[in-house]
Amino acid sequence: MPGAKPYYITTPIYYVNDDPHIGHAYTTLACDVLARFKRLDGYDVRFLTGTDEHGQKVEKAAEKAGVDPQSFTDRVSGNFRALAKAWGFTNDDFIRTTEERHVRAAQALWTTLVERGEIYLDTYAGWYAVRDEAFYGESELRDGPAGKKIAPSGAEVEWVEEPSYFFRLSAWQDRLLKLYEDNPDFIAPQSRRNEVMSFVRGGLQDLSVSRTSFSWGIPVPGDEKHVMYVWLDALTNYITAVGYPDIASADYTKLWPADLHMVGKDILRFHAVYWPAFLMGAGLEPPKRVFAHGWWTNEGQKISKSLGNVIDPYDLVRRYGLDQVRYFMLREVPFGNDGDFSHRSMVQRMNSELANDYGNLVQRVLSMIARNCSGLVPEPGPLTGEDEELLGAVADLLPKLRTIMDAQLFHEALEAVWVVVRAANGYVDRQAPWTLRKTDEPRMRTVLYVLAETIRNLALYTLPVMPTASDAILDQVGVDQEQRSFAAVGQGGRLVPGAALPKPAGVFPRFVEEADAGA
Ligand code: MSP
Repeated sequence: MPGAKPYYITTPIYYVNDDPHIGHAYTTLACDVLARFKRLDGYDVRFLTGTDEHGQKVEKAAEKAGVDPQSFTDRVSGNFRALAKAWGFTNDDFIRTTEERHVRAAQALWTTLVERGEIYLDTYAGWYAVRDEAFYGESELRDGPAGKKIAPSGAEVEWVEEPSYFFRLSAWQDRLLKLYEDNPDFIAPQSRRNEVMSFVRGGLQDLSVSRTSFSWGIPVPGDEKHVMYVWLDALTNYITAVGYPDIASADYTKLWPADLHMVGKDILRFHAVYWPAFLMGAGLEPPKRVFAHGWWTNEGQKISKSLGNVIDPYDLVRRYGLDQVRYFMLREVPFGNDGDFSHRSMVQRMNSELANDYGNLVQRVLSMIARNCSGLVPEPGPLTGEDEELLGAVADLLPKLRTIMDAQLFHEALEAVWVVVRAANGYVDRQAPWTLRKTDEPRMRTVLYVLAETIRNLALYTLPVMPTASDAILDQVGVDQEQRSFAAVGQGGRLVPGAALPKPAGVFPRFVEEADAGA
């Protein structure tokens, strides 16, 4: 795609202490949908995901599993690749922080920060939560059971006292605030931006960026008793993958700064405060935007291993279907808010919005064409105002969707598409092509043509969220592979009257409860 605009989007890299769960799938799904949308819109996309493999948390998990950290991370990292496959993710790269390219980049960033006077040696004495891989101030903690202290995230902290290198974060307060002020879209949603800004206004302390009490990490160049703080190591992955430290490389020049880092709300501070400070400290540009999404609960309860209510992303897909789950997760919750997974609302949306609204539209139109137009794209006659209105509505969606997707408001994008799905169903009912068949066949053909066109456009719009079903619909309206892009929206790719269509088949099955099915 010579000359195409680049778009670089990243997921957080996942800790390999755990099997992939629904939270991991959610962050990557959001990125996958954006990556697919941008590709369809002609962008040259780079979509990065991967695994965060160093640090105390992973070291402990390996110990518990009775294997060395490298074999442990090899295995668990593989599980994340498998998840990407099972959920249809189209990442272009998968980075592991134990790879040579990454160790090299992280050490180069470190050396640059040292050379620029941003890192100095001292001693850290304070609280640390291994679960969050984060340092906490005394005032942030509350008392927990058995004399333990607890971080705001709920993680237990331990007292750490050891020689440590520090990053001069305190010196970056004003420049960070300026970054947020000059770039109002740098942090989204707005409420999260306010939180970050008030945190930074409250004053920043220098950040401990190395540890000496364990060894599973990237050695600090020139002082190998220290390993780099896992967040400094991990955040660097975003530039490793585009060729850092070779900042003259084609990839780096084209792709950095990243267009979007997608993260969960729990790790926003690392991405919106520490990361831009590290980058600016090294004389590099900060990313363009960080979006923090909310967390899922399961039937109203916090998801946790101890409660035994972890949602297995594989089970979910087996039970409801991949496209259905992808649709649900992005439709159910305004993106950015917390949301609840419930079987009831999953089935409700699957049956009413997918099977009834969208599925029925496609099914009834295509079977009428099969029966009454010999399975050929019908020849339209002159268009009425109502025909033009529907075709106009579906073509006008594209600029709207672009704006909505650039704000990462997936739920609004789907709602906007469904407004047209419902309008198309209303049009079918009003035009009643089954009556026209007896009274006015040429008009019936026009109506069915307008509907087939509407369906073609709708299926292009739903490709990013529901790739399999949308491809199946596009097959059924006879759209060639090369016409499956937003360049074909509206006039760009009109169906050719007389073209033969394959036999229609339903793409959105209803979910039937076992009890209802008489099982
Ligand atoms: N390794 C760090 C990220 C480093 S990025 C340089 C990390 N990994 S993680 O595996 O713990 O979490 C990754 C993502 O999963 C986060 O964005 C987090 O918000 C998301 N989720 C984990 N549980 C979740 C839910 N229950 N719901 C939604 N997302 C959640 O943090």
